[in-house]
Amino acid sequence: MTSQLCCLVLMGSSLKGKVTLITGASSGIGAGTAVLFAKLGAILALNDKDVENLKKVPKECTECGDGTQHLLVPGDLTDEDTVKKTVEEVIARFGRLDVLVNNAGILAFGGIETSDLATYDRVMNINVRSVYQLTQLCVPHLIKTKGCIVNVASVAALRAYPGTLVYCMSKSALDQFTRCVALELAPKQVRVNAVCPGVIVTNIFKRAGLDAKETAVFLEKSKQTHALGRPGEVDEVAHSIAFLASDAASFITGVSLSIDGGRHAMSPCEI
Ligand SMILES: NC(=O)c1ccc[n+]([C@@H]2O[C@H](COP(=O)([O-])OP(=O)(O)OC[C@H]3O[C@@H](n4cnc5c(N)ncnc54)[C@H](OP(=O)(O)O)[C@@H]3O)[C@@H](O)[C@H]2O)c1
Repeated sequence: MTSQLCCLVLMGSSLKGKVTLITGASSGIGAGTAVLFAKLGAILALNDKDVENLKKVPKECTECGDGTQHLLVPGDLTDEDTVKKTVEEVIARFGRLDVLVNNAGILAFGGIETSDLATYDRVMNINVRSVYQLTQLCVPHLIKTKGCIVNVASVAALRAYPGTLVYCMSKSALDQFTRCVALELAPKQVRVNAVCPGVIVTNIFKRAGLDAKETAVFLEKSKQTHALGRPGEVDEVAHSIAFLASDAASFITGVSLSIDGGRHAMSPCEI
């Protein structure tokens, strides 16, 4: 068996039956991750702000192969009671938590001259504060299962870009959060890692205010800003999240894994 095949087998078999909470699961990277984890046999608890969007997740994400229903835990994670309720519901339903994927997040354009404090709070509240609270409430359960956490950061955590100041700051905080929590939880055998995607084709740019033409121009430009000559796809990030959550990564903690077509290694600081 090739080492790549061994890795895939280990990834799949070790995620089977693992109770996995994924935030921001109805769209983009979160939705792709939910589909992949469902295929790998994980038991899913899926959060998303919009209950109607969450109801549209593919059928494989609402029902396990054995007919067990996955759990939908809709709600805005910037609301403290919602975060508490989310964790309570997961534990009430499954009695355990093995994997937490902190994926929900938003992008906002603007710099120091144009981003007001309302924007700062809006981005920080979901990209950092809610992750802090959710992780804090999940940690006791992850210690019991010797589970793991995968945070979805960004190349913007590792490199500076003008025009997305608050977003860069928020992802940088998540990156450092990953390493600090990894060191704190390592003695308890809980692994904590992050993925740092480059530009990935999702609705995040539209939600941040770009229209269809601007999005097309931005994605076209990504061919130059990524060494591999293209933006990435959701599945490419989902596979890396699954790898870090699986036993194939059993000796990996505190890592921020770039999934960015080589962008982090390039010099230009264009958005
Ligand atoms: N796409 C990229 O190029 C890229 C690159 C690097 C990092 N990332 C990161 O990857 C993650 C996923 O982004 P994406 O590209 O997949 O974007 P997306 O398609 O816009 O998905 C974001 C998800 O987060 C959810 N969300 C936002 N605010 C929330 C809240 N307050 N409470 C609960 N859920 C909330 C959204 O729910 P609703 O649909 O209900 O709003 C949506 O499901 C983000 O953390 C993003 O920063 C993306």
